[in-house]
Amino acid sequence: MKSQDFYMEQTDSSLVKSLIVSNYFDTWLNIVYGYTNKNFVIYVDLYCGPGEYENSKKSTPALIMDKLNSKEALMKKAKNKLLFWFNDSNPILTKKLTECLQTYGLENIKFDKPSVPCNPMTVFITNYELPSVEIETLIRRLDFPILAFLDPWGYKGISKELIDMIVNKPYSDCIFFFNYNRIRPAIENENVIEHVQKILGSEGLKNVKERLMMATTQYQKEIIILDEIIKYFSNNYRRYVVPFRFLTYTTQKQRTSHYIIFVTKNSTAQKVMKEIMSKLCSDTHELHFSYIPPNPQLSFLGIDQSDESKEKIKKRLLQTYAGKELSFKELYAKEGYYNVYTVDQYFDILKDLEIEGKVVFSLPPTKKGNDRKLSADNLYKMGKVKFV
Ligand SMILES: C[S@@+](CC[C@H](N)C(=O)[O-])C[C@H]1O[C@@H](n2cnc3c(N)ncnc32)[C@H](O)[C@@H]1O
Repeated sequence: MKSQDFYMEQTDSSLVKSLIVSNYFDTWLNIVYGYTNKNFVIYVDLYCGPGEYENSKKSTPALIMDKLNSKEALMKKAKNKLLFWFNDSNPILTKKLTECLQTYGLENIKFDKPSVPCNPMTVFITNYELPSVEIETLIRRLDFPILAFLDPWGYKGISKELIDMIVNKPYSDCIFFFNYNRIRPAIENENVIEHVQKILGSEGLKNVKERLMMATTQYQKEIIILDEIIKYFSNNYRRYVVPFRFLTYTTQKQRTSHYIIFVTKNSTAQKVMKEIMSKLCSDTHELHFSYIPPNPQLSFLGIDQSDESKEKIKKRLLQTYAGKELSFKELYAKEGYYNVYTVDQYFDILKDLEIEGKVVFSLPPTKKGNDRKLSADNLYKMGKVKFV
């Protein structure tokens, strides 16, 4: 796609994507600020674009600045520690971004790779084309927490190795664009095998190919690919991978265009991201949230398999935790590897089990007033769940 076409107008899907990132930015800065003893934290956007669409709608970099400007406490934290690194291979776009950032009063803009010493709120702007060894070296050297957003048009530059480099650092998370529409056919295409292996791994690619032979519908195929992605990017369910699916319409039906995928080691981060995504989604499946663009004629095609998924979760909970008692927080952190349900949704699933007499909730007896009320919030903060 040509840059000038993409940035003409913001689609609903692009807005949802930018909201996922900018809403999470707020949480990340709060979490990281509270815990890190590093002098700096950095927001990294390696495919940043101009910050604004031609029709003046704001995209991710500008929405992030709006977020900071709208919250005094957040800005105070930013002014203490935050750095920005925006990269885009197209210098025309980074020039536009610079102008956009200047309207936010950002004065410390350096057209150079990130380096310290520098002042908080310094913006570094570069024009590397990914994949890039220099980018990888720079990321490797950054010795402070990172929130990275990787949003290419295709899948050029996205690799498990790069994402590991980011997420392996303390308090560092990554949000990336997974181009399902392009990767799905690429799985069968020997000419691009190298690129696909960088995303799925050679074993993952082999597994996907084998499993795809058993699938009969397009949706089954998609879930198999997603399942392998989750397994691989979560390092076999040892960190959290939260996918958000975007659908588009062809003349007759809906089909998946891409996913936005969040990777984190932090259980609070996955909890909050699931809440952010669930507010922006029109359908929740066991493995993903979905944004289905409005199209009244086709709304009956919305896929809702949540009831079936919830039954599966109940069954797994009863098998895994039989006879055990644990805090709801711990239970949610353990379960978070396997599905995208929010704390509220998990609470509802557990309430069903409580009604069936299979689970007992408890809150500390000393609590008074609202703290004694059995709610998802209270149970998460201080409650226990016993599987009988
Ligand atoms: C989907 S757009 C990013 C949109 C942006 N994240 C936003 O929210 O406005 C992809 C951007 O990546 C840039 N780009 C394309 N190929 C690239 C590459 N190989 N390396 C770095 N940037 C690239 C394009 O110029 C384009 O601005």
